[in-house]
Amino acid sequence: MSHENDLLFHLRMLSDEVRMRAYRAAIEATVRPGDVVADLGSGSGVLGLLCARAGAARVFCVEKNAFMVDRARRVAADNGLSDRLEFLTSPIEELTAFPAPVDVLVSETLGPAGVDEGIFRLFAHCVSILPRRPRCIPASVRVLAAPIHYPALDARARRTARVEGLDFSSLADSLGDLPQVLPVTPEMLLAPERDLFRGAPGVDRPPGELTTRWDPPPAGAVNAVGIWFRADLSDGVPLGNGPEGPDTHWDQLVLPLLPALAPASGPLALQVWPRFVAAAPRWKWRVTWGGRTHEGDPEKLDAPGSVED
Ligand SMILES: C[S@@+](CC[C@H](N)C(=O)[O-])C[C@H]1O[C@@H](n2cnc3c(N)ncnc32)[C@H](O)[C@@H]1O
Repeated sequence: MSHENDLLFHLRMLSDEVRMRAYRAAIEATVRPGDVVADLGSGSGVLGLLCARAGAARVFCVEKNAFMVDRARRVAADNGLSDRLEFLTSPIEELTAFPAPVDVLVSETLGPAGVDEGIFRLFAHCVSILPRRPRCIPASVRVLAAPIHYPALDARARRTARVEGLDFSSLADSLGDLPQVLPVTPEMLLAPERDLFRGAPGVDRPPGELTTRWDPPPAGAVNAVGIWFRADLSDGVPLGNGPEGPDTHWDQLVLPLLPALAPASGPLALQVWPRFVAAAPRWKWRVTWGGRTHEGDPEKLDAPGSVED
């Protein structure tokens, strides 16, 4: 990401009041005076600063983006908290120890689908290098899915297949292999949301394959699966990006099925594989309904040899 995009990304998160209010409440409920805290993926430093304000004696802010570390140092100084924030410019998974035992791990490495910034992997690594189990924010994360009909997806597939009388169908066909982050609204849901995974960062790890099914099946043609998360940051402090909840900066992850699967009898089954390629999420998914299958896989679009695992 360019520095301009880094700044826009962090400003967007800082301006998400739903997110900020929930993290402030969870930090105030969890951090005790004198605690040592690690803020994993500290970015602008906002979570570390809230921990310091809640009484933490030392906060290790771990961030791999040196440009953001530099900006966060300035923010810490502007708030008179430089003496309590210590910046470690490193990928979290490359840390072999913290400068002191940590009481609280806090992180917002949550993508639109909860697991897609690697929060479970990052907490597991930190717990493995700490002498005792820390308190964790978030305390738990659920990943949920629902079959949806997203009208703009059909329209885009139709409009891009033929453009000004030219045949672009070979490009338009790729839409069924391209995950997108889009705003899903409650009326797009064709069946209730179902759990794909639930676990506690620092304790659990999601399996490589997440599955669920809808029986009775959805009530209409399905052209995508929507995925979102619901977390308990601490006891009684929820945060999520479900379509029924308040708007957040995350929107939702949309895995397209194009062309749409028309209604069939029998259950609709979903399998997803949240793969990570070069640390970025690369979802693969399969939907089976009434003997028909759609398999979305961005890897199909790569030139041979271009994928780095
Ligand atoms: C979603 S942002 C959250 C930033 C900040 N904590 C906040 O709440 O506004 C995630 C941050 O984690 C950093 N990050 C992601 N994976 C990381 C890793 N493996 N090691 C270190 N930093 C990481 C990113 O560069 C980014 O700044």
